[in-house]
Amino acid sequence: MNSIKDARFIRQGVDMGTIRPVFKKVVWLDKKVNKATLFCSALGYYEAYFNNQRVGKFIFAPGWTSYGVRIQYQEYDVTNMLEECNTLDIALGNGRRYHGNPHEHYESITDREDALIAALLVEYADGTTAFYPTDDSWKCSKSNILESHVYNGETVDFNANTDEEFPVRVLEDISTELLIPQEGEEVREMATLSAVELITTPKGEKVIDFGQNLTGYVEWVVPAVKGKEYRLRHAEILDKDGNFYTDNLRSAVNEIKVISDGNEHTYKPHFSYQGFRYIRLENFDDDEINLDNFKALVVFSDMKRTGYFACGDDLIQQLYENIVWGQRGNFLDIPTDCNQRDERLGWTGDAQAFARTASINYRTTKFFKKWMKDLAADQRPNGAVTDVVPDLHDWWSDGSSAWADAAVIVPYWVYRTYGDTEIIENQFESMKKWILYMESKGSVRGLYDTHECHFGDWLSLDAGDEATGGFTDKNLIGSAYLVYSNRLFIEMGKAIGKDMSYFEELYEISLKEYRNKYINSGLPEHETQTANVLAIYFDLTDDINREGAKLVKDIEECGHLKTGFVGTPYLLHTLTKIGRTDIAYKLLFKKDFPSWLFPVTRGATTMWERWDGMKVDGSFATPEMNSFNHYAYGSVGDWLYTTVAGIDSDEKEPGYKHIIFRPLPTKALGYAKARILAENGEIISSWEYTGNGDECKFSFTIPNGSHATLYLDDEEYEFESGTYNTVFDYAGI
Ligand code: BGC
Repeated sequence: MNSIKDARFIRQGVDMGTIRPVFKKVVWLDKKVNKATLFCSALGYYEAYFNNQRVGKFIFAPGWTSYGVRIQYQEYDVTNMLEECNTLDIALGNGRRYHGNPHEHYESITDREDALIAALLVEYADGTTAFYPTDDSWKCSKSNILESHVYNGETVDFNANTDEEFPVRVLEDISTELLIPQEGEEVREMATLSAVELITTPKGEKVIDFGQNLTGYVEWVVPAVKGKEYRLRHAEILDKDGNFYTDNLRSAVNEIKVISDGNEHTYKPHFSYQGFRYIRLENFDDDEINLDNFKALVVFSDMKRTGYFACGDDLIQQLYENIVWGQRGNFLDIPTDCNQRDERLGWTGDAQAFARTASINYRTTKFFKKWMKDLAADQRPNGAVTDVVPDLHDWWSDGSSAWADAAVIVPYWVYRTYGDTEIIENQFESMKKWILYMESKGSVRGLYDTHECHFGDWLSLDAGDEATGGFTDKNLIGSAYLVYSNRLFIEMGKAIGKDMSYFEELYEISLKEYRNKYINSGLPEHETQTANVLAIYFDLTDDINREGAKLVKDIEECGHLKTGFVGTPYLLHTLTKIGRTDIAYKLLFKKDFPSWLFPVTRGATTMWERWDGMKVDGSFATPEMNSFNHYAYGSVGDWLYTTVAGIDSDEKEPGYKHIIFRPLPTKALGYAKARILAENGEIISSWEYTGNGDECKFSFTIPNGSHATLYLDDEEYEFESGTYNTVFDYAGI
């Protein structure tokens, strides 16, 4: 049977400037049909219409992969859409990285031609088939999309002449062997938010507030005034005077322009998305503004929601909601650092920091399996992992520790959360290459301390405002991650029956070398909060109490956290590990700068990139790097699940086959409850102070097929599946 690989990539045969083309085919059917299937892919984005109806719900299809190695195609059953005469119209957008990226760093990959590939397969009732692949028999026309760009927005003219047909050009040089079936989750419109309020800013701007920082676009009714151009700009935040603020978007214009043809149209962008909470209406008369005419459509990868957390403190609850919104905003086919400025890239460091929390909130198996295959596809021959995946080829470095360790850490949390060993099989060679690369870059075997570029403890607070890389020694971080990633690799390798003895030996050596060089050296850059966190959390130290005391002293002396992207995910876990959950709670409850709750007190509805995104005086950090939707610090979410509510999965029986309940209640929170929809079913842990002294009600639910151990007040209890309620006097933390 024919497949999409028998079709050819095509593009418009005439120069259309920036106007987006629509490719067309008319297919007459004169026999009874059993089934009709449309296959489609593109270098760029496509949007397919069959008999004027949108095919499928996938936004930004065919998805973003390492295009030079693998390009997904989609398969749609269109049997129910058939008529006698069928028209197929497929619009082609610029897409990610195939065309039109404004960021100066990425120019060299913006000049590739975009192209479409598709095929309609008709299976007749009489057993015969007909196949209509893209070839030179297809036609194309201009769409009404005059310009479209992921970062810059879209311009649509409803007056445009879209009738004239032009020939297409077949691109024989693009191999269809790159095509692979859809692997990831489809990006879809997942929610609709109404406009909350129309604001007139001090500058006189008309601004709509949707009440939530989000990723997606606005669907709106374009007023019917022929020839008039209406414009929307997008922003995440208002400045301290209440004016619309876009400086932090850098070169991303995020502007939608629509020219009316005198008829009322409901419009939403086709090939562009924005990160925003506010829109500014430009060129609207006051009587043309009706809040009901504007809806925000929230767009992200259609993953199953699996984690829920609730507690008795409104600010911490809002922090949790912000963490989940951070994931919604940045799990868009690939895990992106941010959703608004001219970046929105698959930064590996951010993804590994957030992978554990993300995998509890939502089922990430398909999402991460696809992305990890791209990581492996782009991995350098020497084993170094690129900073962003899919790679952009002209980025300036690779192999940065913590970032590149996504190669191991992301599969680990998928494995640990779902007990899924397929991702280990898929990634085994890639993980191994990464560990061996680190091993090859040591001043002695076991250290990763001669690689030139590390991002370091990114955006930590211990190196002053300008020093984004933090104060912690970057070679210390590199060597610490060699030990840690190798340990996870060994655990995963054993889970699929591999001989890991070489790596076990490397582990022993690297631990010894680490202790020699970095523990007790007395150098200040070896004694930061992050250095001590890594020493304890990664089991690098032979004296957890000593490093623990240093960590506690540092926090108590300055009164706050200083950690960046490297230390933050492990900070509260580390304090719990040394028996100082009281300090962890103090950091969690802290409302003034710097803390997790500071942004919440300033009205944040997503996680900020920086602790000081907004300063205490209400001014902003440098617009050069100041996203208000960046999930890395949302990695505190896994501590809420595992320690506040107290649900974890035992590494020896991953996927919550053996559940570890270890809640650490505090009266300050009143109650906490987490619900996780694991492979075996629903897991619940909750506790609530009754108001009667130390009396605390606990409840635990264990699904069939799992068993649990509860650790409470130095006691250990074993449970089989079922629900268990108990009341216990527990003074709390
Ligand atoms: C991104 C980060 C990323 C970093 C690399 C930034 O521009 O937004 O989140 O990890 O670069 O250090």
